[in-house]
Amino acid sequence: MLDRMQVGDVPRKHHIQLRGGDGALRYEECFTRDGFDGPYTILYHLRRPHLQRVAPARHGWAGPEAAPEVALAKRHYRTGELAPRGGPQIDARVALLFNPDLACGVAFPSAPDPVYVADGDADQLIYIHRGGGVLRSLLGDVTFAQGDYVFVPRGLVHRFVPDGDQHWFWFELAGGLHLPKQWRNEVGQLRMDAPYCERDFKRPALRAPFDEGIRELVVRRDGRWHGFSLADSPLDVVGWDGTVYPWAFPILAFQPRVSSVHLPPTWHGTFAARGALICSFVPRPVDFHPEAIPCPYPHSSTHCDEIIFYCDGNFTSRRGVASGSISHHPMGVAHGPHPGSYEGSIGTKATSELAVMCDAFQPLRATAAARAIEDPGYQDSFI
Ligand SMILES: [Fe+2]
Repeated sequence: MLDRMQVGDVPRKHHIQLRGGDGALRYEECFTRDGFDGPYTILYHLRRPHLQRVAPARHGWAGPEAAPEVALAKRHYRTGELAPRGGPQIDARVALLFNPDLACGVAFPSAPDPVYVADGDADQLIYIHRGGGVLRSLLGDVTFAQGDYVFVPRGLVHRFVPDGDQHWFWFELAGGLHLPKQWRNEVGQLRMDAPYCERDFKRPALRAPFDEGIRELVVRRDGRWHGFSLADSPLDVVGWDGTVYPWAFPILAFQPRVSSVHLPPTWHGTFAARGALICSFVPRPVDFHPEAIPCPYPHSSTHCDEIIFYCDGNFTSRRGVASGSISHHPMGVAHGPHPGSYEGSIGTKATSELAVMCDAFQPLRATAAARAIEDPGYQDSFI
């Protein structure tokens, strides 16, 4: 959640009357997290927001299912080799890895969502590896482009309108996404020494009341999709204020840290969630100690599975990975650079790598879709 925004018409105090120019009463909706303890946004609708009728659910992505267990090993999945499942993202998502805290996968949507969507199970964070478009929501439109992370808070009524060819890397975060606490000061503002600032985020532009003619809503709860029909457009919000809203964040807005010697991934921490830390590796100068070894040191990170989605640039420590690859290095066994990378990095001055990393604190399981695009030689490529 970010700093408080105020958009459109709101009354001068919470929970008091707001009327339009014709004297008609507006209807408040309190959109709250963690019961009533957490961050919240208050919306003002032209109509009552709770008039849904139960109807068939005709859309919804399939939840992840584990493939049969295989030996513990370093894994490499080539998402560029997936036969793209087109259509709207609500039907096009392919889950690859998951645990009780998160799922991740890819999508290649080729059409707008034909219905409104509310995910009652998880926050969504989507890295736009290729593509762009508009996230339309009750709180306004967020325009996103290649290289953006797009955040959709749990339960927000929205739909995606992609524009052109797309390749997305998505996360579902059941415990909720937040900005790492170390980047905040005591009033919640991003610190002067944080690796990004409030201005870096693309915020929703309210375009309402707005009727797209869509009267269908699908809602995911406890892993199942449920359908509702609506009498009117849900995009009838005339104003809102609060800290819970969708946004986009360009990965290249992340300000990387460099030290005399190699810094651990925590310095690249961009977003946090229960059981996960998501990091951005962006082009930067590398370590400058006269005896520095800029390549990442081999490590046994004993409490997390590490996945990296490779976006662009040269991946100095990895051989065989390409743009769109995902590496998965499980907890329990050491991992590190490919042969020659450690020695070869000595004396280098910069890296052009662009990648999204996630440390997951519970073991990740793979789906059959992941197994189908696995590089069988990856484990032995380190020897
Ligand atoms: Fe690692």
